[in-house]
Parts: sequence; structure tokens; C-alpha cells
Amino acid sequence: MKIKKYFVIGNPVQHSLSPKLHNYWLKKNSIEASYDKIKLEESQIKNFIEEIRQEKINGCNVTVPFKKTVIPFLDKLSLEAEQTQSVNTILFENGNLVGHNTDIAGFTRAIKDLNFNIMGKKVLILGAGGVVPSIIFALNKMQVSEIIVSNRTREKAENLKLNFNNLKILDWGALTEFDMIINATSLGLNKETINLNFSKVGNNKLFYDVIYNPTETNFLKEGKKLGNQIENGKSMFIYQAFEAFKLWHKIEPEINKETIETLDND
Ligand code: ATR
Repeated sequence: MKIKKYFVIGNPVQHSLSPKLHNYWLKKNSIEASYDKIKLEESQIKNFIEEIRQEKINGCNVTVPFKKTVIPFLDKLSLEAEQTQSVNTILFENGNLVGHNTDIAGFTRAIKDLNFNIMGKKVLILGAGGVVPSIIFALNKMQVSEIIVSNRTREKAENLKLNFNNLKILDWGALTEFDMIINATSLGLNKETINLNFSKVGNNKLFYDVIYNPTETNFLKEGKKLGNQIENGKSMFIYQAFEAFKLWHKIEPEINKETIETLDND
């Protein structure tokens, strides 16, 4: 039998831990397949996706900045992908190229694992990039009371209102009351700090960072120092990969201590 081929596409994609996790699960489940990362230019996306239709490639994950770019080349979208205009998993199914969004399930499960009741709570999101529509969709499903978005480029936050009309927008650099704050910017990947003064926010909040490498960004360190609950994006990352694996291979891969450690030794 021919070895099946899977990829994560993005630009940059160097940092992606998806190959590590998927290859680990493929081996564990004795599935004859490979999973690699591939950096693409926007002009190469169409041809790449055609190869999935021709079943030369069996599926792919999509990361920044292509989660929306891939949509015109697909035949069908899942409801979640449609409503967020964001695709992170592609497969060829019953003659159709289908785009799914497993970031939503990833974020939802990550939050459910925490000892934090989010229903009816006020959430402040920093950033308006690729993953934010998925987070907003998930938060709405979890029935939070209010979602406020603050982004350096205000227009990008305003654009999110086209899909999510219940959003509030806050100026970049300003702070408001919240129960949960999410860093969805790339600030922290290279040890940057976010220029906000959290000293008055109290100590019963949840500080959540989408970044998981480093494990504790300055943003999370600050939240922790003030006595708040903190969580990084690692379990979201693992759960979105779990959902993609399930879509492609019809198997639920195991998530345990070893799985989590697989991602640590970099
Ligand atoms: P993309 O914007 O291409 O989807 P992303 O990594 O998903 O990429 O998002 C990056 C996020 O980090 C954006 O919200 C970005 O803000 P802008 O929309 O203003 O670019 C934010 N970000 C990156 N560097 C930043 C910085 N130095 N200060 C503030 N926000 C920053």
C-alpha cells in the first residue's frame, strides 16, 4: 500500500510542532503515513490543494497566514469553518475537498479542562489575527456574557464584527474590566512584554496565552504574580491536532503524559 502523505502548510512554518505530534501518533497507531511541514508562497496554494484532490497528498493542516486563503480552492466547508472563515484542516471526502476548523474544538476542550467556569463571564482578547475568529466562535458557544477585542491595528478588530456582531472593540493600550484575558498576539514568542498595567485587575481572573513556547510568556508570568490562574496554548494545540487526526484516520489518538512530553524536548 502507498504511504499516505500529510502536511502542515504555512509561512513561516518552521516553528510548527504539528509534525512531531502527528508522526508520534501515526507510529503509536501503526499507520503507514508521513507528516511534514512545508513553507508555501500564496501563489503555490492552489496547486498544493489540487494535489489533495488528486490524492497525491491525503490531507493538510493550515497555519498562518493561510487559514482564509485556502477557502476559494475548496468544495465544501464545515459549519465552523464557514462561520469563522477559517480552515485549519483539509481532507478529500466523497469526491469533495472539505475544509474544517478544529481550532474551535481545541480551544473549547482546553478551557473545559480548566477549573474555571466561563459561562456568563467577560472576556478580553488581545489581538485579531488568524486564530481569533475561532476563539470568538468558541466563546460564544460557551455563552460568555461579553467579548472585547483590542488590536494594534484597530481596523482588523473592527473587521471581526462583520462575522460576530456582538463584539466590543477597545483601543490598543487600554485596559478594561474582565474575568478572562487572552493573549492572541504574537507578543511573547520572543520574550516581548505587553505594555499593559495589570496591577489593578485583581486576582481571581484567568490569564490565557495562545503561545505555548515559551511555556510562560511575560504576560502569563505577570498574571501569575498577581495571583491569577494561568494557562498556555499547549492543550489547545494538542486538542486541535487530535481532532484533525480523527478526521483523517478515523482513530482517536491517545493523549497522555508521554504525548505532552513529546512536545517538550526541543
Ligand atoms: P496574522 O495577523 O497574519 O493573522 P497572527 O500571528 O495570527 O498573524 O496575528 C498576529 C497578531 O499579533 C495580530 O493581532 C498583530 O497585530 P496587528 O493586527 O496590528 O498586526 C499582533 N501583533 C504582532 N506584533 C505586535 C506588536 N509588536 N504589537 C502589538 N501587536 C502585535
